[in-house]
Amino acid sequence: MKPYSFFIMALLLTLILSACGGTPTPAVSFAPVPPEFAGKTSPLGADAADAGALNYATYCESCHGASGLGDGPAAAALNPPAANLLTVASQVEDDYLFWRISEGKMGTAMVGWGSVLNEEQIWQVVAYIRTLK
Ligand code: HEC
Repeated sequence: MKPYSFFIMALLLTLILSACGGTPTPAVSFAPVPPEFAGKTSPLGADAADAGALNYATYCESCHGASGLGDGPAAAALNPPAANLLTVASQVEDDYLFWRISEGKMGTAMVGWGSVLNEEQIWQVVAYIRTLK
């Protein structure tokens, strides 16, 4: 056996063990943000959330609920159900939210809002989602 084989085996074993338990797997995993959206940050200031509230109420609340819990009146019949935005927002960066709101999520009732809301309005909604508790 070559001297470095032990090192490689130890490394593999560590990887296998850590995949089996060790670190807890998050309940939900999120798709990687596509390159054209990755790293985007909001160009808006601190007051953006206030401006986002109205568009959230108009376009999002029916499914995602007033507090973002995914419990809006239109959500009951959806499969998959509307996302709990508090859970999502706690696990992703703004670029992810901006991307999802712009382009939607295939195979779900979440359509892309990029043809309804302009970029500034989407950033305002992102800022509003960040204020939900
Ligand atoms: C017709 C119902 C409906 C409306 C209206 C709606 N959504 Fe969604 N939304 C969903 C569903 C269903 C999902 C997918 C949940 C899943 O994949 O588990 C989703 C997913 C999301 C996600 C991403 C969750 C993930 O897993 O990646 C975000 C962020 C989001 N919505 C924000 C919004 C915002 C902001 C608006 C308003 C501009 C909006 N949604 C309008 C139903 C809706």
